[in-house]
Parts: sequence; structure tokens; C-alpha cells
Amino acid sequence: MAYLLALDQGTSSSRSIVFRDGAVVATAQQEFTQIFPQPGWVEHDPDELWRSQLATAREVLAKAGLRAGDIAALGITNQRETTVVWERATGRPIFNAIVWQDRRTEALCERLRADGLADAIRAKTGLVLDPYFSATKLKWILDNVDGARERAARGELAFGTVDSWLAWNLTGGRVHVTDVSNAARTMLWNIHERCWDAELLAWLDIPADLLPEVHPSSHLFGMTDAEWLGGEVCIGGIAGDQQAALFGQACFQPGMAKNTYGTGCFMLLNTGSECATSNNGLISTAACEAQGRHQYALEGSVFIGGAVVQWLRDGLKAIKSASEIEALAASVPDAGGVVFVPSFTGLGAPYWVPSAKGAMFGLSRGTTVAHIARAALESIAFQSAALLQAMQRDAAAPITELRVDGGACANSLLLQFQADLLGIPVVRPVVTETTALGAASLAGLAAGVYQGTADLAQQWRVDRVFEPATGRDEAQRRVQGWEQAVSQLRSGCA
Ligand code: G3P
Repeated sequence: MAYLLALDQGTSSSRSIVFRDGAVVATAQQEFTQIFPQPGWVEHDPDELWRSQLATAREVLAKAGLRAGDIAALGITNQRETTVVWERATGRPIFNAIVWQDRRTEALCERLRADGLADAIRAKTGLVLDPYFSATKLKWILDNVDGARERAARGELAFGTVDSWLAWNLTGGRVHVTDVSNAARTMLWNIHERCWDAELLAWLDIPADLLPEVHPSSHLFGMTDAEWLGGEVCIGGIAGDQQAALFGQACFQPGMAKNTYGTGCFMLLNTGSECATSNNGLISTAACEAQGRHQYALEGSVFIGGAVVQWLRDGLKAIKSASEIEALAASVPDAGGVVFVPSFTGLGAPYWVPSAKGAMFGLSRGTTVAHIARAALESIAFQSAALLQAMQRDAAAPITELRVDGGACANSLLLQFQADLLGIPVVRPVVTETTALGAASLAGLAAGVYQGTADLAQQWRVDRVFEPATGRDEAQRRVQGWEQAVSQLRSGCA
């Protein structure tokens, strides 16, 4: 019996899941502190990320009644772009992790744009020049933390995305690594030449010594220290959470697409061995690399997806728990003309308006909290529909179905509305923990539990297919209403 362990370090919580034959055996989860030092800034405490991740790994083994020796390999998957810098000698972070949602480097991005670097950055990295990615966050730390630049020049510091940080801790500081899917999100990695790009490093004044070694996503990265899990476990997989989800959804062939409804929403389309370029506001990225096969994807990233439900719960106090939103939204037949654009941390793909703030349109005396809840749910689907439309325009062949996963896809009202807007079937698999499943699968391939991706495709199963039930004209009318709201918001930012 081969058990695989996935460590899924997300934006809102650390989770650990044990899998066997592609099925969930046990899960453990811990939320951690979200730090908002000023508007637009988002940080995490790196030690809390590590401690909460380790605690869930221990808890899940206990729940499953397993020991380290029962685990064939573990895979790490993580919130991407989030930037950590630590001392090599002590493993102590020199600053909080700057989270992917953080907008503090907007002015720096603007300067790089004014210097005419946006096109070259895009050509090398596949990314849109935006504070979202790690590079400007890393530069900010070097420029703003006392002594950081001097210490970096002396080789005393290490940079990593959260996967590197966890791997470093798990191995007691013996390995400083990442994988291609995470490297591709730093804005320092040349996705065509598949190396750290010397020119990018020079433009951003970042010493190469800070950077981790980059490996395929399925790879024997090292062994964990025995003290953490009661015995050594091999780290056999590392992947950014969205690419891991594409892998976990068995989207191994070009033309296959998935959407993950997490804190944000992330839609990825497998484009095969070709690094396709978008003309419609999407980015190009490295997909997971396993068994010598490197693939690319087009990606649309929506910054606020499930987080809008969190805001209704914690900010507006309109609901007590996230699961209440489905019933509240279903208590009204529609959003009563309310369109909610929840761009709290700027608008991501396909619009890219870093300075945008959230807005609600169409409020009237008759608007109730139920209408707002419905409009909030609809905003998740509208943003995803804009991504799929962009993807359809870029794709070599029509996208015929969308595989979905992540917390919010338990919400059938949302998925039906999504299918209605898209006009293609929305497919929910039995295992919706596909991010974690992807990481476990990568580890399983490295450890020889699986022979190839065919084994993984075979174990992927459908739970429910949501067929479009609305006419295309009606869907078009609704999408137009959304696009109008976005244009209004954009003109307010101009
Ligand atoms: O790019 C950011 C993404 O990796 C965050 O994912 O699941 O933590 O919202 P999630």
C-alpha cells in the first residue's frame, strides 16, 4: 500500500492530505495570521507558515494512523510568488513573507514600465509586468530591510518562494531548491531558455547567489529531517499550487483546461511543449515538469475569488461561515441588478489594473444582503468567464470543457451559473483537492508509485457535470453587464 503525503501551503491556510490510489485518506488544516500593515500590503509570518504546515503534517499522519515509514514520498505545493528571504546561517527570515496579493511595488513596476522594460520582461518570462510576481517584492526587501543588500552581496541570504522555504526547513537547511513551475512566477526566470536570466537580475539589481536551484516538479529533492515527522520522508514533488492543480486534474494534453476556485481563481490551459503567447491579457507559464516532459500553460489569474466570501464573512459580517453563502444567495432569484467587482487588490487578468479598488454598481433601496451575496458569487463566475473568453481567443482549438476544483466548487449554484455563462460543460471531479493531489502525484511519480501520467489519468473520476442551461443571448447580456461595470471602474482609475 503506497501512501503519499501532500503539503499544501495556501494563502489562507496550511493543509496536509494523505492520499492512497488517488483518494483522500485524511486531511488536516490550520489557518494562520493575515497581516495587513497598510492598505494594499499583505504579509505572512514565514515561521508561522512553517509551523502551521508542520503541525498539519503531523496531525494528518496521526489521523490516518500512519508513520513516516508508511509514506512513499511527499509533495509540496504552495501559494506562488509569495517572497521569503532568510539567513543561510540560522534559517531566520529577515522580513515577513510579502504575499502575492501585495501591491507595495506598484510604483517600482511603473518605473520599470517607464524605462521601457515591460515588453522585454514579457518576452523573457511570459509575464505581465505587475507587483503580483516575486521579483519586485524581493527587490523591495533588499532595498528596505536594514543591511539586506550588503548581506546579500556577501552571500549570507537566501531567497525563496514558499516551497523553497518549506523544503529548506524540512531538510534542516540542507537544500535550497524550487521547481520550474514556481521559478516561472518570480519574473526572474527565462521560460524559453529555462534558466535564471542574467539581464533580468541586472535590471532589478538582484544577486544570483540568493536564488534556489531549479529542478523538475517531479524530482528527488532530498529527505526530510527525521525529527519533523518521526522518521525521514523523501520529498519527491514541488509545484506551484495552480500548476499542481492542472496536473491533479489530469490535464496532460494540450487544449485541456482547469479553473481553481481558491482565495483567487486561476484558470490554466495546457498548451503542450509550445510556450504560447497571449494576445488577450493572459500570461504564459511553465506547467509541471515530470518524467522529462516539460509543458507550458496559458494562465488567467483573478486575485479575489473565494476571498470575496471571506470578506462577506469577516469584513461585512453578512454571514457567519463561508458555507452560508449558497443558501443566502439562493434566497433571491437574481442579484437584483447589483454587479459587484471585488477588485480589492487590483484587477488581474485579463484586465490588469493594479490600482483598481472594489466597487458595487446598481444598488437601489430594494438591495438586500442576499442580493449582495448573490452578486459576490456571480463576480467569481464573471471573472472566470472573462478568462475563458480570453483563452478561447488565444487557443489553437476551441476549449470544450472546463474542469473545476478548489473550496468554492462545492457550491453548485456557482458552478451552474458558471456553466451558463461559459456555454460549455463545467466538470467537477470526485476529488476536488486537486492541488494537493497534483503534488502527491508528482511525488508518486518520482518515487515509482506511478509509472506514468496514464496511471494518473485513469484514477481521475467525474463527480458531476454542469451543463449550460441558459441561452447564449441571455449569457451574453449578463457578461456585457459585467464588462460595463469593469469599464466604469477602469475609467475611475484612469
Ligand atoms: O498565484 C497565487 C496563487 O498561487 C494562490 O493560490 O490557492 O492560495 O489562492 P491560493
